[in-house]
Amino acid sequence: MKVFETIADWRKFREALEPGTIGFVPTMGALHAGHASLLKKSASENAWTVASIFVNPTQFNDPKDLENYPRTLEPDLALAESCGVDFVLSPSSREELYPDGYRYRVSENDFSNRLCGAHRPGHFEGMLTVVLKLLNLVAPTRAYFGEKDFQQLALIQGMAKAFFLPIEIIGCPTAREADGLAMSSRNTRLAPGERELAARFPRILSNRELSASQAAEELARSGFEVDYVEDRDGRRFGAVRLGNVRLIDNFGNFGASK
Ligand code: PAJ
Repeated sequence: MKVFETIADWRKFREALEPGTIGFVPTMGALHAGHASLLKKSASENAWTVASIFVNPTQFNDPKDLENYPRTLEPDLALAESCGVDFVLSPSSREELYPDGYRYRVSENDFSNRLCGAHRPGHFEGMLTVVLKLLNLVAPTRAYFGEKDFQQLALIQGMAKAFFLPIEIIGCPTAREADGLAMSSRNTRLAPGERELAARFPRILSNRELSASQAAEELARSGFEVDYVEDRDGRRFGAVRLGNVRLIDNFGNFGASK
């Protein structure tokens, strides 16, 4: 496995790469089994697999969240290698990906303002911008994204279509802990008591006997601060906070949209 810390080195290498299908998995590191499932799927479907590891500052609306985001490069590289990744793009500084100082941005003016977008101003703009940069740099055949971040996946699919990107955007199922909590790099920041309580989030959110507002009430009663619970296109989306850790999840098969 080869690791690239500068965009210049990567571009030189990419130009000379022998032809073959390329699968791409962008990440912010702190890799866990959820990321591993995307990496392995890509490795099994493509001649080459590229992963990127970059904690993208422009998508963090909360500076504390950016500061506290786990950074675990050595074990991340080991996990990537064990999943069959060929190349890792791990830009060493913000300037590598933002030579323009973030003057140029990708925005979307409908879905990105709802759900998580309503609670995290600028988040999806920063996310779409970095993903477009990475997709242009890697020029993959396919790119893989988790359904855990379903709104992100939908916005990236929309961007690929809107800008005629010749890339297949592939959604992958949410990997969960044994108790049902969706795997997330932020789970390590939960205190033991909070971690135990966190398992109630997917259980209540996925309960099809509750309406969205009943589920929100039940979550609040259980001790979560509820950002939203909302049904959209037959899918239930939720975001809650425990202390300063924000958890998101979503489930399909919620009947007709309201
Ligand atoms: P990150 O949170 O590191 O996630 C990288 C990819 O792994 C995303 O596609 C995400 O949906 C997927 N993923 C995370 N947890 C998962 C789980 N439990 N099951 C399945 N897939 C999971 O999402 C980002 O980084 C960033 O926004 C990024 C797209 C890299 C842009 O900066």
